[in-house]
Amino acid sequence: MNIETRLFSDDDKDIESAAEILKNGGLVAFPTETVYGLGGNALSSTSSEHIYSAKGRPSDNPLIVHIADTASVYELATEVPETAKVLMEAFWPGPLTIILPKKEIVPDTTTGGLSTVAIRMPSHPAALKLINLSGLYIAAPSANTSGRPSPTTAQHVMEDLNGRIEAVIDGGPVGIGIESTIVDLSGDKPTILRPGYITKKMLEELIGEVDIDPTLIRPDPNIRPKAPGMKYTHYSPSGELSIVEKSADCENSQVKSLDSDSATTVADKINALYNEKKSSGYIVKILVPQEHAHLYNTDDVITVGSVTDGITVAARLYSALRECDDMGAAYIYSESFMDYELGGAIMNRLLKAAGHRVIYV
Ligand code: TXA
Ligand code: MG
Repeated sequence: MNIETRLFSDDDKDIESAAEILKNGGLVAFPTETVYGLGGNALSSTSSEHIYSAKGRPSDNPLIVHIADTASVYELATEVPETAKVLMEAFWPGPLTIILPKKEIVPDTTTGGLSTVAIRMPSHPAALKLINLSGLYIAAPSANTSGRPSPTTAQHVMEDLNGRIEAVIDGGPVGIGIESTIVDLSGDKPTILRPGYITKKMLEELIGEVDIDPTLIRPDPNIRPKAPGMKYTHYSPSGELSIVEKSADCENSQVKSLDSDSATTVADKINALYNEKKSSGYIVKILVPQEHAHLYNTDDVITVGSVTDGITVAARLYSALRECDDMGAAYIYSESFMDYELGGAIMNRLLKAAGHRVIYV
């Protein structure tokens, strides 16, 4: 497949052209508040097949269906429990995906053969406009090639999918930077299948106890994650990524990676590892929050947001990992972001990228 990929702005006229492409069965990448999505008509098997092939994604990994009004949920799902209504009301439009039993009209291709469907109403104005102007439900996985970090800019999308899709709408860098929280409401107990900006606590305040898919906490090769996508290795950088973390030696240290003693201990270890690889001639990069950059005496530091605001770390994470690849890093050492706001969601992605390689000091 090699087609000309048009780069659209996010003005009304361009979004109108993008909507036409979708109506004609083509694929358009578009900004959402989380990451860029690769959109196609969710009710068309052919479009969903095109999405899988453009991404190089296994077709048993279901797509999220994006909608622009809550009435659409009742068109797509057979059953909408009270918990779903409460969460839709509280968090839509926004970075929450809800899994419900699917209606016949949603093709098996879109749901990877599952009897449930993932539904989300994004809050990004360009995304909402595209859904409304096309009059479609838009199936959209993250707009990266399978195995690369999710795109947070239109340029990332072009790097991965130029020549493979009809168009990209450039809405600038996204706000959140990591994918939506996924909550499964199709079973007996609400269960988080993927952590994100909407936290367990935020959900529990509204609907009571929420489980977390156990494979998210400790991956076990014998247990299948409930979100098929979580079982794939996902992104791993071309270089070897390791996370360096202060071991939890004192029980009462709540904010261990945030206090300055811990930061120095971790930095000493990373500096030693860095020097060792560097002196063997390797390209080495270091991922740290901006406040810790001065602890590392090298230009190979890539900063990832601020210690005072985990949201800024999430926003920078994927582009920082792409930079490591672009610069040909053979080894990458990252501080841990576990104790930051959104730490669980950030570390879910970072640990995967590191193949769960953690060095404790
Ligand atoms: O923020 C987001 O959710 C972005 C933007 C574009 O909306 N989309 C996104 O899609 O991250 P994707 O395809 O990269 O990730 C979707 C995840 C996969 O892990 C998939 O397995 C899971 O959702 N999923 C989709 N439908 C499901 C279902 N019916 N049951 C369980 N998991 C499902
Ligand atoms: Mg993805």
